[in-house]
Amino acid sequence: MALINEHYQKLKAGYLFPEISRRVKQYSISNPDKELIRMGIGDVTQPLAPAVIKAFREGVDEMASIETFKGYGPEQGYAFLRNEIAENEMFMRGVHIPPDDIFISDGSKCDTGNILEIFGINNVLGICDPVYPVYVDTSVMAGRTGYISDNGYYDGIYYMPCTQNNNFVPDIPNHKIDIIFLCFPNNPTGSVATRQQLKAWVDYAKQNKSIILFDAAYQAFITDPEIPHSIFEIEGAKDVAIEFRSFSKKAGFTGTRCAFTIIPDELLAYTSTGEAVQVKSLWARRHSTKFNGVSYPVQRAAAAVYTKEGKEQTQAIIRYYMENARLLKQGLESLGFTVFGGTNAPYIWVKTKNGMSSWDFFDLLLNTVQIVGTPGSGFGPSGEGYFRFSSFARREHVIEALERLTNAKI
Ligand code: MLT
Repeated sequence: MALINEHYQKLKAGYLFPEISRRVKQYSISNPDKELIRMGIGDVTQPLAPAVIKAFREGVDEMASIETFKGYGPEQGYAFLRNEIAENEMFMRGVHIPPDDIFISDGSKCDTGNILEIFGINNVLGICDPVYPVYVDTSVMAGRTGYISDNGYYDGIYYMPCTQNNNFVPDIPNHKIDIIFLCFPNNPTGSVATRQQLKAWVDYAKQNKSIILFDAAYQAFITDPEIPHSIFEIEGAKDVAIEFRSFSKKAGFTGTRCAFTIIPDELLAYTSTGEAVQVKSLWARRHSTKFNGVSYPVQRAAAAVYTKEGKEQTQAIIRYYMENARLLKQGLESLGFTVFGGTNAPYIWVKTKNGMSSWDFFDLLLNTVQIVGTPGSGFGPSGEGYFRFSSFARREHVIEALERLTNAKI
């Protein structure tokens, strides 16, 4: 008799975004004449930059010729891409990360979900509430938690509330957490962490021999020059942090798939008898055993993001999305909503009116103005009473959505 992994049965429902799609599909079947505006999942709408497409095509052409054809590539990624990342993402911000510390992958979702595999099952996990649901759900699947309680929290996770009171940046805990997930700019609240706040986390991790898993998938949307783009801009972070980066939102690769994870040489974790082990070597072992690399044309396309044209063109797309964010924020504020995020992140985090629940607000928008967003409670119990709009929509849809909301007096 084949037995299942019963930890999956602890999961409270379907994964958030497929669950939203399911409800939206149901609505569309019953209301085929209604035109939906989708601002739920943070999926990009603008095509890849021309410089990226050109490199992508050239990569495909190379695969068509016997002289230039490529089979398996290096599991960790081609050096041409790792070098560009080290230079443009790190060195140009004053951070020295050798290309060898960079692991190319097909997504930060997979990497943030898989990374715990190299850490012991008994680590105490600290996870923000609300946050990108992958951190909690994958911890549950791996048997790192107990059951979910009535208040929506899984036993065995140390939740770090991110609310209006702390500007959606978690307070430093007063006891020991071994592995801390941080995501800045934050999904879903759009908040950012200052240099001082990140330094406090690095200091905490050093004191406690903890590791910070820093998800910086949205760093390209930071507009405030004082806000760090990488945890490695903080002195000492290489001893305590892993960083996840993605081309998905930065360069429109949600359907193309390319990301990278940085694990510094210096980062150590310990055996139960206290022996220090290099974390990078464990991830390299895992990566080369379970992953065969991102396709060559995709890596060529990603490297083109760092050409002069690639930089200009992807920046223009980022500005387009951030103008959407500005319009949404301004429009929602003029409708009387309290709005957060949207200035250093592509997400708008809105407080519902009159204490309406997140899912009730979701239904209200879907049924009355056919706008799809994401209920805040889907990101964790502290997201209850909030709602997330993604600014990755097309401009005409953002404008139309604001018109519909204004006309419906929502
Ligand atoms: C989101 O909407 O939160 C993101 O698009 C999800 C993801 O990046 O996987």
